[in-house]
Amino acid sequence: QQLDLELAAIEKGGYDHFMLKEIFEQPSTVFDCLRGRVDAANGTITMAGVEANIEQLKNAQRILIIACGTSWHAGLLAEYIIEELCRTPVEVEYASEFRYRNPVIHKGDVIIAISQSGETADTLVAIEKAKEQGAIIFGIVNVVGSSIARASHAGAYTHAGPEIGVASTKAFTAQLAVLAIIALKLGYEKGTLDNKRFLHLLNELEAIPEKIPAALNQAEAIKQLAYKYKDARDFLYLGRGYNFPIALEGALKLKEISYIHAEGYPAAEMKHGPIALVDENLPVVFIATRDSYHEKIISNIQEIKARKGKVIAVITEGDDVITQMADDVIVVPAADELVAPMLSVIPMQLLAYYIGVAKGLDVDKPRNLAKSVTVE
Ligand code: G6P
Repeated sequence: QQLDLELAAIEKGGYDHFMLKEIFEQPSTVFDCLRGRVDAANGTITMAGVEANIEQLKNAQRILIIACGTSWHAGLLAEYIIEELCRTPVEVEYASEFRYRNPVIHKGDVIIAISQSGETADTLVAIEKAKEQGAIIFGIVNVVGSSIARASHAGAYTHAGPEIGVASTKAFTAQLAVLAIIALKLGYEKGTLDNKRFLHLLNELEAIPEKIPAALNQAEAIKQLAYKYKDARDFLYLGRGYNFPIALEGALKLKEISYIHAEGYPAAEMKHGPIALVDENLPVVFIATRDSYHEKIISNIQEIKARKGKVIAVITEGDDVITQMADDVIVVPAADELVAPMLSVIPMQLLAYYIGVAKGLDVDKPRNLAKSVTVE
């Protein structure tokens, strides 16, 4: 027993919890994920799984993305990025829905299955079903040799290393990195992405691991916020565009780790319902980094403030406008909007973590949750 405790302490590498260790590992896990694949100086991408299947990917009439949980959020962001850069229609499906309904699958459809564990039963069965109908399965998996990796025709590993905390953190940013690489490569090969933007995005992607530490540096400030807001009954998370999936992921992290009810919503959609919840007791987290939706999200923040909601905004450094409006801000470095979610998700992870800790909860093993769901 004593030995087990000591071993666990060593494995946590000086951090209080695996979740915190894994959040802080992200500069190196994203770096490892890009290493050998992205070479911005030479303007090249090397990804064997994509190269070997480039014709199928280029010719695909559509791409279906199948996943669960946090991996599904990575898939939703991929839909936005792939449609923007590759002009291939993308649909994102919950594996549990896909496997039981009667989806239309055409021969040659490309299915991207995303899974940290590679063992999620719903995802595995969903891809088996699509395979029977002639789809090509491309797996994005963290655990090498796992069932989903083996069931896929091709794929790419996320190389995030073992993830112990039940709530997924570093695996998510690695998934986003792999998906960005695929979108860039495919857009370039299809000719839907011009060389200038390709090179710009390649540089932006390669710079992410160097920018993550600045986001992590907000940890102390986020800890203070956690104590300020830990007794809230509900939270709302709002974002637009590329940050909408991050709003969903922020809300999921909070539910998982702190047991506080949270909802993620597209910021503009809140007026069709969630706005009725807003009062002085409701913290609203805005993922409001500077992007093409910026003016729009500023209006949404005003709508919340006018109803006395408490606004916590994740902003790009130097954004004085939102700093003036929000109750609290968390600052992340500037980045192109397509890759910025890899930075804006980090405060989401830290906020959930510190609220869970402030409430005295077992953040590494939240009640009722499993790291890998191998039963339906
Ligand atoms: C469980 C985990 C989540 C994870 C989801 C999908 O619910 O607790 O963290 O996002 O399964 O898992 P996968 O391994 O397929 O990514």
